[in-house]
Amino acid sequence: MCGIIGYIGQQQAVPILIGGLKKLEYRGYDSSGIGIINGKIIVRKTNGKIQNLQDLIQTHPVPSSTIGISHTRWATHGAPNKINAHPHSDNTGKITLVHNGIIENYEILKKELQSKGHKFESETDTEVIVHLISEYYKNDLLDAVRKAIKKLKGAFALGVICADHPELLVTARIGSPLIIGIGKNENFIASDVPAILEHTRKIIYLKDGELACLYKDKVDIFTFEGKSVKPKIDEVTFSIEAVQKQGFDHFMLKEVHEQPDVLQKMIGFRLKKGEVVLEGLNLTEKQLQSIKNITIVACGTAYHAGMVGKYIIEHLSGRPVNIDVSSEFRYRDPIVDKHTLLLAISQSGETADTLAAVREAKNKGAKVVSVCNVIGSSLARESDGVLYTHAGPEIGVASTKAYTAQVMMLYLFAIKLASIYKKVSEKELKAIISKLKQIPQAYKQILDHKENIATMAKANSHFGCFLFLGRNINYPTALEGALKLKEISYIPAEGYAAGEMKHGPIALIDEYRAVVCVAVQSETYDKMVSNIQEIRSRKGKVIAVATEGDQTIQDHAEHVVFVPKTHPLLTPLLAVIPLQLIAYYISVQRGCDVDQPRNLAKSVTVE
Ligand code: AGP
Repeated sequence: MCGIIGYIGQQQAVPILIGGLKKLEYRGYDSSGIGIINGKIIVRKTNGKIQNLQDLIQTHPVPSSTIGISHTRWATHGAPNKINAHPHSDNTGKITLVHNGIIENYEILKKELQSKGHKFESETDTEVIVHLISEYYKNDLLDAVRKAIKKLKGAFALGVICADHPELLVTARIGSPLIIGIGKNENFIASDVPAILEHTRKIIYLKDGELACLYKDKVDIFTFEGKSVKPKIDEVTFSIEAVQKQGFDHFMLKEVHEQPDVLQKMIGFRLKKGEVVLEGLNLTEKQLQSIKNITIVACGTAYHAGMVGKYIIEHLSGRPVNIDVSSEFRYRDPIVDKHTLLLAISQSGETADTLAAVREAKNKGAKVVSVCNVIGSSLARESDGVLYTHAGPEIGVASTKAYTAQVMMLYLFAIKLASIYKKVSEKELKAIISKLKQIPQAYKQILDHKENIATMAKANSHFGCFLFLGRNINYPTALEGALKLKEISYIPAEGYAAGEMKHGPIALIDEYRAVVCVAVQSETYDKMVSNIQEIRSRKGKVIAVATEGDQTIQDHAEHVVFVPKTHPLLTPLLAVIPLQLIAYYISVQRGCDVDQPRNLAKSVTVE
């Protein structure tokens, strides 16, 4: 996934392009570049973070210009280096462009273009696009872009400029996000809102199959077929601060601390007088009753949220729930039909594998409801219903508030189904709802002890390998804790169902391993204590997450982090917070790049 920005107006373009790129670094940051027009196309690009591009422009200044495009890259085709960085230009040097997405048929197009004399510099799929536009260019940039994109297979969001037309910036999208910012005598394109929020709050979410011509004083939008489109201009509500760190050292820590408010908002918005209000579900009770089975698809952290969802939906609704990682689901010819409800969970709503899984399920007749955080995302638009988590922008690559918001949404969804299928008693439902309302306060209590967690985490940051164990509804919690740690500290960490230890993993245990055990009050608590004893007898170091008031756990574990008591079914919402913090503080102690871990990007929009 990459980040693109474009500007046309009356201000100097470069500061706007660089400032916006910095707010898109979470989308990818292995190389970056800018392109402007000053009589001709001038490009500066380099590998590494955006600071390197800023330094390059300092030492190799570009002349003034009021039009430009820029790009921060997460490599898909071609190594992360200067040659492969965007923008890419044609051989005439008149046309340059930036691209977010993946062109699946680029090799064949490249061969055709090379046979016509086009010389390629890079290994990227993107460079094919600018040579294709050049091939069709007869002094009409829009026409050339339209003809070129018709030849492309795959996903793209483009920003294109041409030295012959310094008054025009052309953009187009399919399969990758692209917004247009409407300013006063200036207009913008960007992959995501934070990049241009300081300049305008008036946003057009360009739709798949649309392209646009941006001039400084107007924007014309068309379909790929050339039909004019009347744009819908949205007003963005969240503040610039929402995308700043607000005094925290990292976006991730800020987002961990936002969780109480996020969940409080969700409860306030979606629990009215004990009734769940799933605005956006877009399915009637009758349609919900006709569902015979539910299938959940997601990736990474979203998948772990889905696993909690499986437990709780089956328990409260009695409907069978399948779950699969999107990248497997899409290729296994899944058994899905018109009686299936597909729940797609995705913070970004742009994850390529989850989008593909949804398309596969829709082709087989399933109804699709997505749990999304990014409004207007591709997944949201391709679903029959969308449950927005409204967690606000999540900038840290490691997902935290999006995860707990997804889990909360799945609890609310399960309660909704329970009220329809009458699988559990009113009394139990009421008990769950009343405890659910106390979760935000419980979060604050856990966060009040973050310094103790920090001290303990740092004291254990030397371990070269971690296991995370959980049982039943907290097995997904263990998986999520392991993913958090490995992705931001680069320490090998595996999550296991604790009952699996005897079937192999216990061979790993010695004094060099740390084992994090989710040992909250539950019907499997005693089994977890036995696991802890087996680990300790083999000199493994145990960090336990337990329920306040537990008088025995400290006899078994070296370190204990307590979470407030709640309904056993709700413990995943609480137990994950200490695991987020443990991962965070170990990563900081190891000097890792918490918000932008190596090799990762915030949303994987390519396969
Ligand atoms: C989360 O910490 C990871 N960075 C990653 O696993 C993420 O959850 C996954 O890529 C899914 O992203 P999505 O929710 O935007 O689809």
